[in-house]
Formats: sequence, structure tokens, C-alpha cells
Amino acid sequence: MKNNRKYHLVTFGCQMNVHDSEKIAGILESEDYTETDNPKEADIIIFNTCSIRQKAEQKFYSELGRIKPLKKKKPGLKIAVAGCIAQQEGNRMLKRANFIDHVIGPQNIHVLKDIIKSRPEMIAVGDNPAITEMELPVYRKDPVRAWINIMYGCNNFCSYCIVPYTRGREKSRALESIASEVRKLAGEGYKEVTLLGQNVNSYKSSVNFPGLLKELNDIPGIERIRFVTSHPKDLSNELIFAIKDFDKVCEHIHLPLQSGSSKILKLMNRKYTYEEFLDNVLKLKSEIPEIAITSDIISGFPGETDEDHRCTIHALKEIEFDGIYAFNYSPRPGTKASLMDGHVDDDVKSSRLSEILDLQGNITELKNKRLEEVFQEILIEGFSEKSSSKLTGRTRTNKIVTVPFETQIKQGDLITVKITKAHRHSLEGSTLLRFT
Ligand code: SAH
Ligand code: SF4
Ligand code: F3S
Repeated sequence: MKNNRKYHLVTFGCQMNVHDSEKIAGILESEDYTETDNPKEADIIIFNTCSIRQKAEQKFYSELGRIKPLKKKKPGLKIAVAGCIAQQEGNRMLKRANFIDHVIGPQNIHVLKDIIKSRPEMIAVGDNPAITEMELPVYRKDPVRAWINIMYGCNNFCSYCIVPYTRGREKSRALESIASEVRKLAGEGYKEVTLLGQNVNSYKSSVNFPGLLKELNDIPGIERIRFVTSHPKDLSNELIFAIKDFDKVCEHIHLPLQSGSSKILKLMNRKYTYEEFLDNVLKLKSEIPEIAITSDIISGFPGETDEDHRCTIHALKEIEFDGIYAFNYSPRPGTKASLMDGHVDDDVKSSRLSEILDLQGNITELKNKRLEEVFQEILIEGFSEKSSSKLTGRTRTNKIVTVPFETQIKQGDLITVKITKAHRHSLEGSTLLRFT
């Protein structure tokens, strides 16, 4: 019996947060709450926040400002702030905005259950190493592709990054608990799983990361296994061979370079040089020629000269990533880089960023063009957002393909298509109805 109570959930940030929101929704749904898109109808509004860059933070605060008047109109309304800003700000958050009822860090999502059962805990931002063993209900909207946590936290302390402060120390989840979740998903009809962690290749339980991939590769029903994010310093030959040899592990790796200058990489505390990174890329490409490699770049890290920026431009040309996420460096409170000398002017950061994005856009397009006339296996995700006469899916290399709708094809099908046209952000394909 539904209790007529409604929740409105707003999510910012990375896949980790998106998946945490599936747990937040899971807890609320299991307490008979239903979701609403309309904040005015809600009994509880939850913001799952991100603080990776200042802009992400600002987005949240402006949304929060818009919600404030609702609280005056409906005094029973509860407002909860979860995620990385919650963890970072803790008590300060309540001082800054006294209409907030609860502040819940990423390691403490489980307290939500008590909160809605009216044991009003204001703040839950303590360390919770038990998070790896907590089996929270998950409310997934996608019936075909699922995200799964394999580890929590980060120990790397890249000098620009807030994550080790908001997500705590690195902890791996037990193999059996991951495998049983994947088996359960397979039983429910899921075809693809994406393993989540800040640095998945440092996964360590009774097995290492390639060992985990091997176990999961044997689970019937699951057709594709993906993982994010890999740290270049921990990319082993064993992992390269796992991608190559295990049939379900997709030929795609997200390997954030951050900068093409070894001087900047050192200041970033990334623990690899550009040459080492390139070496790994060459190994990946020679063992798995069809592999797609994507990356992250930061423009205008403190101390970055024009020459360092040229190194990044050179790296992009030399490596030819399939795609990148690139952003201006944003100083984060409490991080080492925020205290470094040589902060770069915003306009310089932005003009370097434009050059990076323009160049990469051309490379991405060129790489996509190479796929024209090539057959690719895609997993159908559903109708295209842009047109109801088209379906979309992804290649094993994680490229989006749209194909004309045909009644025989349904969500979750794996079909082979011929790529007919390549664009910068997607591909078009024609279906041959050759089911794989
Ligand atoms: N754990 C992953 C990525 C986590 S954050 C990894 O190590 O690669 C995702 C991306 O955000 C990073 O790769 C980085 O490029 C970017 N990022 C992190 N902190 C940033 C900051 N202070 N300013 C700009 N970009 C940042
Ligand atoms: Fe941040 Fe570095 Fe950890 Fe990634 S590895 S989450 S960039 S500290
Ligand atoms: Fe993710 Fe943002 Fe936190 S990128 S880990 S939600 S700071």
C-alpha cells in the first residue's frame, strides 16, 4: 500500500552519484514513497550534490535557492542534502541555509531510512567503512544496463581533487557480494553491467581487478561488462589481457590523462609521466586494435605554461582519444593545488580549453568516420530522445548509434548494424536484422 508520500530527487555529478541516487530512491521506494518530477508535490526533496568543480557547486546552490520558498509554503516539507557537498560542508551547510533538514554524506545514505521514519538526524557525515557490506535497495530505471559499486573512496590525493575528502578512503567490496548482485541482475534480464569505482584497477579483495572481471565474465545472461574509472598508474598488462581475452569485457577504457606535460602531472601528483601513459596506450592499441580510449583533461592547472599546454595539444594529436571530457581547472577548498603558486588567469584557461575541445572534436569525428561501412554490434537501449522513429544503442566501444525503428527490435537486443554515417557525437546505422 502506497502511503501517498512523494519524493523529488535531484542528482548532480558523476556516475557514482547517479548510482547513489538509485540507492536513495531504492530506500524511499521501499518505504512506499513515490517519485515526483514536481518539487511542489513533494514531501521530501533530496539533492545529491557534486563538488568536483566550483560550477557544479554553484548549480546546486542556485537550485537550492529556488526551493527555499516552497519550504515556507509547506512547513512539513523536508529538505535533505546528500553527496559530496554535504560531506564537504557538514555543519556549515545548516548554518548557511537553515531551512535544510538533513545533511547526509555519500557514506551514510542508509540513514535516510531512519530519517523518514521520523527519527530526525540532522547530520550524517561520519566515516563509514561498513559501506562496502551494506546491501541497500536499488531502484534502477534502466531495465537493461546497470551500475554496480565495486569499491568506494579514493586514496590517490591528486593535488587538484576533492574526492578523497568527500568519499573517504579506498575500500573494495567483497567479490562474492559483487558477483551475487550481478547474478541477480542477470536473472532480472539485465544485459550490461558497469563496475564503478574512482580507481577500479586498484580493486583488491580475494582477487584483483582482472580476477574480478574473470569471475563476472562467467555469469550467464550478462553480455557486456564495462568499468570506470581506471587510473593510468595502475594499468597492468594483466588488465590489458583481461580486456582482450574475456569476451564480455568491452573494448573501451576511460583513462584520464589530465595533462600532456610530465611537469604538470608531477604537480598534480598523478604518479605517471606522459611517456609512461603513452606506453600504456600503445600497448592497449597493439593488443586490442579496436579499443576505444577516452580521457579527461584539465586546462590551466597552476603553473601550466604555454609550453605545457602545447604538450597537451601534442598528446591529443599523438594518442587520438575517441573522446575526452575537458574542463578548466577549478580550485577546491583544502586541496594542495589550491595553495600552489602560479594560478592561471581564467581567460587563458578558457582559450586553452577551446583549443583542446576544438582539436579533440575533429579527432573524434575523424575516428568515427573510420567506422563508416563497418559492422558493429549494438545493445538497444530504447527510442532515441530526438526522434520516436529511431532507436539508439551503443557499440562495445561505447559509441552511440541510432538506427531506424523496426518492430522486431526491442530494448535489450544485441544486433549487428552497419554504420552508414558518422557524426561527431553519434553514428547512424542500418539494421540488417542479423541478431548476434
Ligand atoms: N577518479 C577519476 C576521476 C574523478 S573526477 C580519475 O582519477 O580519473 C573526474 C574528472 O574531473 C577528473 O578526471 C578530472 O579531470 C576532473 N577534475 C577533478 N578535479 C578537478 C578540478 N579541481 N578542476 C577541474 N577538473 C577537475
Ligand atoms: Fe580524484 Fe585522483 Fe582520486 Fe581520481 S584518482 S578521484 S582524480 S584523487
Ligand atoms: Fe562524483 Fe562529484 Fe563527488 S564527480 S565523487 S559527485 S565530487
